[in-house]
Amino acid sequence: MKRILVTGGAGFIGSHLCEKLVSEGNDVICLDNFYTGSKENVWHLLGEHNFEIVRHDVCQPYWAEVDEIYNLACPASPVYYQNDPIQTTKTSVFGAYHMLGLARRTKCKILQTSTSEVYGDPAVHPQPESYWGNVNTIGIRSCYDEGKRCAETMFFDYHRLHGVRIKVIRIFNTYGPRMAANDGRVVSNFIMQALRGEDITIYGDGTQTRSFQYVSDLIDGMTRMMASDDDFLGPVNIGNPGEFTMLELAEKVIAMTGSKSKIIFRPLPSDDPKKRRPDISLAKEKLDWEPKVKLDEGLAKTIEYFKTKI
Ligand SMILES: NC(=O)c1ccc[n+]([C@@H]2O[C@H](COP(=O)([O-])OP(=O)(O)OC[C@H]3O[C@@H](n4cnc5c(N)ncnc54)[C@H](O)[C@@H]3O)[C@@H](O)[C@H]2O)c1
Repeated sequence: MKRILVTGGAGFIGSHLCEKLVSEGNDVICLDNFYTGSKENVWHLLGEHNFEIVRHDVCQPYWAEVDEIYNLACPASPVYYQNDPIQTTKTSVFGAYHMLGLARRTKCKILQTSTSEVYGDPAVHPQPESYWGNVNTIGIRSCYDEGKRCAETMFFDYHRLHGVRIKVIRIFNTYGPRMAANDGRVVSNFIMQALRGEDITIYGDGTQTRSFQYVSDLIDGMTRMMASDDDFLGPVNIGNPGEFTMLELAEKVIAMTGSKSKIIFRPLPSDDPKKRRPDISLAKEKLDWEPKVKLDEGLAKTIEYFKTKI
């Protein structure tokens, strides 16, 4: 049994990770300030003897004796991370700094959930880890993109200077049950609009692409990365290489929900990337990992979940 700290553990991804770690018999501390996460996401774990919740902001130091840290704390949806951009940068950078300090003192392994946003609006497609990205430093998305890039830098410097056992994954768009219904991410937006019979809003002309990974595939990749040899640090892409246009996704959601919603188009927000697709060769080679859940299968489960939220 390991003692494992999950920051951002009450969020969408964190709650699925806590669930898996608890079911494997680990002693799990879920640390969260509940900015975008909720107790409801981990309600079902509260009675377990090997699970506890701590209300805490990672911008402040935190101390516990642990064997592993998964650092997830950070709002991931543009609506929330742009609501208080200074807090977003602080969460990424100070959060990484405090968790790396804890990892250094306890000599534990620490995994950072970085993001495909470090590639910005990519000039290389699909994106391999060796691509350095095309990111605006001063735009409305920069608090998140640059915060995550700085966190990656700090992880590698803590490794080089202090020998901290780091792991960095770059997560591509992930969806599934427990995404917040109002968080403005494309999958939750389309499903909620379709279920309510409202117009489905596409920003831009709908030809921009994204790849969509079901949450169970991500959790599998994430835990494999944590279990991998200490000399494999990453960064490694964890995402589904299937690529869809926004228009294809909207049409799929309408068909699967049997909705009468119409598709409407709105101007594209600034710095919105036109294309996104992970090159996952490194994850296949080093972690023997690739996603298993097809978009239709994952969407069906997600739609069932959102039906309970209407
Ligand atoms: N969902 C995706 O598609 C995606 C893609 C790339 C990277 N990621 C990364 O994965 C992680 C989890 O994302 P998610 O989709 O579950 O988002 P989420 O918003 O559902 O979860 C983030 C959690 O962090 C908590 N949090 C935020 N600021 C905090 C702070 N200062 N102190 C403590 N807790 C704080 C929130 O309350 C929430 O529970 C994030 O770091 C995100 O950047 C997610």
